[in-house]
Amino acid sequence: MRHFLTLKDYTKEEILEILELGLKIKKEVKAKELNPRLAGQTLAMIFEKSSTRTRVSFEVGMYQLGGHALFLSNRDIHLGRGEPVKDTARVISSMCDMVMIRTYEQAMLEEFSRYSKVPVINGLSDSYHPVQLLADFMTMMEHGKDVNPIVAYIGDGNNMTHSWLMLAAKLGFELRIATPKGYECDPAVIADALYLSEQSGAKIIIGNDPKSAVLGASVVTTDTWISMGQEEEKAQRIRAFEGYIVDEALMALALKDAVFLHCLPAYRGVEVSEAVLEGEQSLIFDEAENRLHAQKGLMVWLDKHR
Ligand code: CP
Ligand code: NVA
Repeated sequence: MRHFLTLKDYTKEEILEILELGLKIKKEVKAKELNPRLAGQTLAMIFEKSSTRTRVSFEVGMYQLGGHALFLSNRDIHLGRGEPVKDTARVISSMCDMVMIRTYEQAMLEEFSRYSKVPVINGLSDSYHPVQLLADFMTMMEHGKDVNPIVAYIGDGNNMTHSWLMLAAKLGFELRIATPKGYECDPAVIADALYLSEQSGAKIIIGNDPKSAVLGASVVTTDTWISMGQEEEKAQRIRAFEGYIVDEALMALALKDAVFLHCLPAYRGVEVSEAVLEGEQSLIFDEAENRLHAQKGLMVWLDKHR
């Protein structure tokens, strides 16, 4: 049985297999052909943080696959009142066929998965957001940006950046990261990515200059400067990130046919300008929709690998 807690645990072949499966299921859905691959199965969705896309895509995805999803906010279940993770894991996994968790600490996911009898999916932690990267790469595949891409990530060294590091390191493409000083990625994640890059041939460039990162890039991406749980740092972060907005002037340095990605929610005029977000190069809504298709591929793949 496999869990999906970080892309670090997956090979290039496995990641591509999940995406191909997701694309196949997407084609079927678009042709109004629903195949109940997970008929009668139940997905428990534990949320310790807010969500629009993750909740809707997993719930709709499970329904379309013939199964059912349960929304469990930690404000409503005993986990939020101190019931141990290991007890919650054993109870929920004795009744459900798969579990998706959105939480703070990656360690909580690891502990849950150690006690779970069923596959556990990371629906975002402070460290990683791997399901988002499945949707992002699926979008790149559909727009012809998956072959030798140069991806520029501008902004905070956060869960999204860490996930881009893992994806680049596994698939072997060029990733340039520009963060403000003091907001760099976790050095341990960078070290892992650099180590994996030696085998995959990925080129990872880490710096503090958005312009040199974007120059000649085929994909430009960013994320909020204030992640969930960092609300109190808002004023300080807005000051520290001055000059890191992805606007038209910055996009103009990328390749002419470069695309823009953002996992959303986006804050207009903060990390990205309205013109870029709503502009022709922006694929943000295809990317959001692909959460549904990529995660269906993932759930079916995990079911096959029990
Ligand atoms: N991108 C993403 O995970 O969105 P939600 O927080 O709305 O789930
Ligand atoms: N980095 C953001 C991603 C939101 C989908 C956060 O953790 O809040």
